[in-house]
Amino acid sequence: MATRIFTRDDLPEAAAALRRGALVAFPTETVYGLGADATNEQAVRQVFAAKGRPADNPLIVTVADIAMVARFAPLPQVAQQVMAAFWPGPLTIILTITPGSLSPVVTGGLKTAAFRLPQNALTRALIQAAGVPLVGPSANLSGKPSPTTAGHVLHDFDGVIAGVLDDGPTAVGVESTVLDLTVAPPAILRPGAIDPDALRPLLGSVTSEQQVLGAKEVPKAPGMKYKHYAPNAQVVVTAPEQFPAALAWAKHSGQPFGVMATDAMLAEVPAGVLTYSLGRDVQTATHALFAGLRWFDQHPAVTVVLAESFPLAGLGAAYMNRLLKAAGDTRFGE
Ligand code: TXA
Ligand code: MG
Repeated sequence: MATRIFTRDDLPEAAAALRRGALVAFPTETVYGLGADATNEQAVRQVFAAKGRPADNPLIVTVADIAMVARFAPLPQVAQQVMAAFWPGPLTIILTITPGSLSPVVTGGLKTAAFRLPQNALTRALIQAAGVPLVGPSANLSGKPSPTTAGHVLHDFDGVIAGVLDDGPTAVGVESTVLDLTVAPPAILRPGAIDPDALRPLLGSVTSEQQVLGAKEVPKAPGMKYKHYAPNAQVVVTAPEQFPAALAWAKHSGQPFGVMATDAMLAEVPAGVLTYSLGRDVQTATHALFAGLRWFDQHPAVTVVLAESFPLAGLGAAYMNRLLKAAGDTRFGE
């Protein structure tokens, strides 16, 4: 199959492909998603097959408006308030569904489902045109870093899916916050750009154990238990104050190594080391993280990558959650 790169002008064609059950990847403000008609079981099965995704890991239902959610789930008042405040935006909401309204292939057989209304206007227009919600897991092979460009999607799925709607690099760079509204108090199952402090004014208390946990966490979102984001090299999470010692250690090891860090930190790296810039702060670092992990995979000689850590506040929790998974919890000096 020749995978098409769709642009704005091709929306009708992309929507038609989705309606006939084909897979079309789409941009969001977080990462690219692998789209298929959420009401077409056959199409949804193809998403699991293409990704190599375990069947017990449920998919997000991506919608163009709140009315689309109401087709599948009653909307408690608190859900309506959260949607009004944060949608469209990088927040996925878990709700109890109307029994039988969604295929168990989508929900992994759960009585709940995840719903998301992304910010990307092209994608919302695509869903409107298709007339059906789309399942939208990140458009990467299971276990690989999520895609933040159409090029990343093609790297994993060229020749496998019908097309990818290209709208340039994504803004945030890590996947949405997953908020479970079926438990009391509401719980954040996956940290993202919407942090608990932003939710508390509306929800009162919010639990967020996942915030500080890395690869060895006990997961509540089924997907969090799988090895994620793993590049071929060993990633070693390195605090800024430990960079001099980590650089000396890596150099001493005699193995080719790489460094993924902010520009201030890269200024200290000796010539000849393969470097990837995380920009200037936690926001640019989050934006660049997955692209950087994928970039090092193109340099198989590099067996160790020192990657800069950030404090856990705000977006830092989302960044560190992904980075620690990529590193299998390996930190320099521990
Ligand atoms: O930003 C995002 O959320 C991206 C873009 C493409 O929208 N999508 C994404 O999807 O990250 P995915 O499938 O890679 O991650 C969805 C997460 C998984 O960890 C999954 O286990 C969890 O949401 N999830 C889905 N349905 C759930 C449910 N009913 N209860 C608990 N967790 C659920
Ligand atoms: Mg994913």
